Amino acid sequence: MAEQQQSVEEFKGRPRLPRFALPRRYDLTIALDLVRSTFSGAVEIAINVVSSTRFLVLNAADLSVDHQSVWFRSQESDRQETKRPSEIVEIDADEILVFGFDDLLPIGEGVLGIRFTGTLNDQMKGFYRSTYEYNGEKRNMAVTQFEPADARRCFPCWDEPALKATFKIALEVPSDLIALSNMPVVNEKADGPIKTVSFQESPIMSTYLVAIVVGLFDYVEAPLPDGIKVRVYTQVGRSNQGKFALDVAVKALELYIKYFSVPYPLPKLDMVAIPDFAAGAMENYGLVTYREIALLYDELHSSASVKQSVAITVTHELAHQWFGNLVTMEWWTDLWLNEGFATWMSYLATDSLFPEWSIWTQFHGQTTSGLRLDALAESHPIEVDVNHANEINEIFDSISYSKGASVIQMLQSYLGASSFQKALALYIKRYAYSNAKTEDLWAVLEEESGEPVKNMMSSWTKQKGYPAVYVKIKRHELEMNQSQFLSDGTLGDGQWIVPLTLCFGSYDVQKKLLLKTKVDKLDIMELLGLQEGKAGLSEESSQENAAHNWIKFNVNQTGFYRVHYDNELAARLKFAIDANQLTGTDRFGILEDSFALCVACKQTLSSLLSVLSAYREETDHIVLSHIVKVSYKIVNLVADATPELSDDIKLFFINLLQFPSEKLGWDARKGESHLDIMLRGELLAALAQFGHEKTINEAIRRFHIFLNDRITSVLPPDTRKAAYVAVMKSVSISNKSAYESLLEIYRQTDESEEKVRILSCLTSCPDPDIILESLNFLLSSEVRNQDAVYGLGVSREGHETAWRWFKENWDLIEKTWPSGFLLSSFIVAIVTQFGTAEKAAEVEEFFVSRSKPAFARTLNQSLERVRINARWIEYTRKEASLGEVMKELAGRGT
Ligand code: BES
Ligand code: ZN
Repeated sequence: MAEQQQSVEEFKGRPRLPRFALPRRYDLTIALDLVRSTFSGAVEIAINVVSSTRFLVLNAADLSVDHQSVWFRSQESDRQETKRPSEIVEIDADEILVFGFDDLLPIGEGVLGIRFTGTLNDQMKGFYRSTYEYNGEKRNMAVTQFEPADARRCFPCWDEPALKATFKIALEVPSDLIALSNMPVVNEKADGPIKTVSFQESPIMSTYLVAIVVGLFDYVEAPLPDGIKVRVYTQVGRSNQGKFALDVAVKALELYIKYFSVPYPLPKLDMVAIPDFAAGAMENYGLVTYREIALLYDELHSSASVKQSVAITVTHELAHQWFGNLVTMEWWTDLWLNEGFATWMSYLATDSLFPEWSIWTQFHGQTTSGLRLDALAESHPIEVDVNHANEINEIFDSISYSKGASVIQMLQSYLGASSFQKALALYIKRYAYSNAKTEDLWAVLEEESGEPVKNMMSSWTKQKGYPAVYVKIKRHELEMNQSQFLSDGTLGDGQWIVPLTLCFGSYDVQKKLLLKTKVDKLDIMELLGLQEGKAGLSEESSQENAAHNWIKFNVNQTGFYRVHYDNELAARLKFAIDANQLTGTDRFGILEDSFALCVACKQTLSSLLSVLSAYREETDHIVLSHIVKVSYKIVNLVADATPELSDDIKLFFINLLQFPSEKLGWDARKGESHLDIMLRGELLAALAQFGHEKTINEAIRRFHIFLNDRITSVLPPDTRKAAYVAVMKSVSISNKSAYESLLEIYRQTDESEEKVRILSCLTSCPDPDIILESLNFLLSSEVRNQDAVYGLGVSREGHETAWRWFKENWDLIEKTWPSGFLLSSFIVAIVTQFGTAEKAAEVEEFFVSRSKPAFARTLNQSLERVRINARWIEYTRKEASLGEVMKELAGRGT
């Protein structure tokens, strides 16, 4: 028998609830008052007392629990009297509620009853209020967002993912509204203005997946083959915008049912667009909630990139219905099992639904964001310790999502798609309605594939960071040497089991091997089955020959590592790029690794620019889109390091981007590809940003036509941002008209997509006064709290203004976005723009008295980035011949 607890004190400061009583079933009734934004509830929780205790400890936060109402009744046949706790303690810091009884509770089943009341908050978590307009009148809607640990703000519960139970929910709501929850309605009883809606009892599930939405909606509906109804709910009058997501949902469900060989586990699936929403979407079991921009698609008014992101988001959340909802991580340490997998699967499904999008090429964007974050000393392992509920939000980051998805991708390529799928299906079956840890997954994969998966993968999930593999060639011998890559230029001491892939001179000649030690060697002749002298693989080979002897590691970029080639191999790859022998993905990989080495001061900017100049005739979306992203960073770097070269570097990029941009023009062509549509807007925006006159003039011309008459053909959603950026470039406090026009469009439109687009352009203006005005606008009632973060991409000229504004408004910012990733996004956006050690110190100083566990890690990562920037700037400043190189390369480009 477990040791008995003596006092309430013993429950304080623990990361997890004690396990002596476990929930089995919640019977929950909530009555809502949407006018006063309050609710009152009653919950009866069937529990299992599994070890001797006189305490029941569960979670609750921001609720008023009616102490008089609490009772416990054992269901054991001889002990059925109702008991009242003699002691009730609410421990706010730990968000727990402790009921102390005079006597030990009988082991076995019992029921705990609690009544409580609460307020619908405005913080987009727990049980909250969202607002919308109906017939010109502002209305409230009630929405839940419980992940990671906010179900406790709606009803007292054992709020941990492993403590699964069934839920029987009933809601008392105004009769004219639609009430939704995880399960279908079984009974609806109206009593005048109020109705009671009862939902079917759910299968066992985690508390963070419970959901309630109450408001006015329209919907579109489609059936799955086995009669399960799928619906998309939107604001009244906009259900047309839900059709695309509905179609994606139905197809994705069919695909997942096959992929996992397990049916969709619930009788219905609803997806709802919520006007105020903190994340992008949330996979609540059977009732998935979304930001409007992540669910709604309008043929005429939405961009291709929104269309794609709706597909990615829907397929992501639906993958969770199996991966996460049916099989749930044991604890938040294994959050990556949820998010890494859903992210990876969203590409798998989207690729199957829209093969013409080549969506896997964009998966490299995921890998890149994982690699960038994980190159910080302040990164964390995929399997991360979580000691308090307030630390959980912060790990919904690029490590859990992007690195998680990338190591899955790496493993899948190593094991092969079919063996991988079989193992996943087995894993889902084995752990359905239960919980699993990372190791459980490795065990199944090992069983199915016969490969030592656990050993290899633990090196990727249990330690932070990743290797750079340094490759040298000496005659026929390739030497591979791994060491941990860090952006601050130091070498970490991590070591990995790296599934290396390489190809020689052609994609037909490929090799796979595991690099298990720090250094390893390969004999190329042996590998190719050749004898010396035959294949011209010697160092002395002529340049032309060498071009055919290129060696590319990390083929198709499926590995989570970087490659640093010696000069000889790098030169051969450059020829290969010139000779158009590499795939877009591999051209992308070479560029991204080069860029990362440059940031870490392992390679000069001159040599990166020389690599970039090999991409003069580039047309591939993934490569160009990456060049655009990198170009913004380099232009900023040069402005800080050698401002006298600012115009030259812009010219360099204008030269590079003009060719593909002119090929695409401004106007869409019939039948052109999805990727070209997206690329056009990205290129034009960059050219406008770098001051390319022709682009700016055309943008202004189109903008004015668009203003007078919102003809979308002259400025379709895909190029609109470029035009907005272009017109904002010349806006100043004395010349505000374009700015005011944008605000007018913002105010007139009811599309979230358009509002967000405008917010993301306002602060791109170089005028600090306009920036300040725009930043203040973000805090006004005209911008929903969910959207303010879109407006923080402030132009270089506005960095100081933004920092001052941030400090002055910190109290308000912290109050409005008190926890979670939105607050973290503020910190990242404002802090990482800087690039001097002094600024890092200043920021640190500001936060000495203000830091909180909820964003401590993010703050440290941001500070580290500032110091990395500073080092990079210093290093670049010392590059003597940079100016000449730039001019020479720019000249050659045209
Ligand atoms: N489970 C998350 C939502 C979430 C995020 C809840 C953070 C609590 C904290 C959901 O499945 C998700 O990952 N949403 C993504 C969208 C997706 C397409 C990457 C999001 O919100 O960005
Ligand atoms: Zn997710």
